Amino acid sequence: APRVLSGIQPTADSFHLGNYLGALRQWVSMQDSHEAFYCVVDLHAITIEHDPAVLRRRSKVAVAQLLAMGVDPERATVFVQSQVPEHAELAWVLSCLTGFGEAGRMTQFKDKSAKQGQSNTTVGLFTYPILQAADILLYSPEPGDGERVLRVPVGEDQRQHLELTRTLANRFNHRFGDTFVPPEAFIPEGAAKITDLQEPTAKMSKSASSPQGIVDVLEEPGPMRKKIMRAVTDTGTEVLYDEENKAGVTNLLRIFSALEGTSIPDLEKRYAGSGYGQFKKDLAQVLLDTFTPIRERTLKLLDDEAELDRLLALGAERAGKVAARTMDTVRERVGFVGRG
Ligand code: TYM
Repeated sequence: APRVLSGIQPTADSFHLGNYLGALRQWVSMQDSHEAFYCVVDLHAITIEHDPAVLRRRSKVAVAQLLAMGVDPERATVFVQSQVPEHAELAWVLSCLTGFGEAGRMTQFKDKSAKQGQSNTTVGLFTYPILQAADILLYSPEPGDGERVLRVPVGEDQRQHLELTRTLANRFNHRFGDTFVPPEAFIPEGAAKITDLQEPTAKMSKSASSPQGIVDVLEEPGPMRKKIMRAVTDTGTEVLYDEENKAGVTNLLRIFSALEGTSIPDLEKRYAGSGYGQFKKDLAQVLLDTFTPIRERTLKLLDDEAELDRLLALGAERAGKVAARTMDTVRERVGFVGRG
């Protein structure tokens, strides 16, 4: 089977709707047809200032949410990045193949570092995309593993990082012999960039959005409904898809369409003449129907921390085996002496 690999940062108490539609939903569906590796990237999470106890907690809540969404820890390998030290080791090797200017062109770095100011920007934030490349390439299928395909389900904001990963894979292969499979970004149509409910031209984001602009997966039903009812639209009344002039309604239509599986033209027809109120009310219900069971399952999974730890150990062991094999090859090819 082809492989799928993806990662998510444990940088908030809950994942949000953008994470779910842009990436996590695909994690669940792709595990059926792929050999799957899903990673909670806590090494990435320390590129900004953090609290150790909070980080450890959030990594576990992150894993619980993934399982609650339907990621199956028996079929898919679910693990926490720091439990597999090869990620950091390969990142070092790849950083020695990355141009300084090349890394400096990453737009996420430019945005985040501009927001934080130079004195608060770490070297880790700068090399973040290289660690991400390592996360992906460690799970390159080797010759003999079957179909040599590596797919990475992510939102639109990760496209440039995936391009860099492909470049680094090809560069390594060219210099040291065929080792890595250049990964394919798997970016969903329509839901790849969910926007902020209060600022519908900006991405819904853990770090940049206000609480009113984000729908959390673990949100209580009352606040979830309220946020949708208060989502910014426009002074018109028509439920129409128009990115330029109706960014708010367009975002809500995309969310509705992705969650319910109804096409946007069909939704426009259904709400022709009914105004925004009914449309939002129904959308809120669709969100509640999706996320209430996920919230309940997450809380239940968190009740049994020993079981969660057992599943994590299982995932770390499985991922560790694949990562160790890749790193053995890399050490050999790069010219390290090795332990024999
Ligand atoms: P992170 O943790 O910021 O986000 C996780 C996933 O959610 C997607 N996403 C969105 N999709 C649609 N609309 C939005 N508003 C939205 N906001 C976030 C992201 O595109 C992502 O797919 N660098 C990655 C984490 C990472 C990774 C990896 C991903 C580390 N190593 C290896 C893939 C493979 C990130 O910051 O995701």
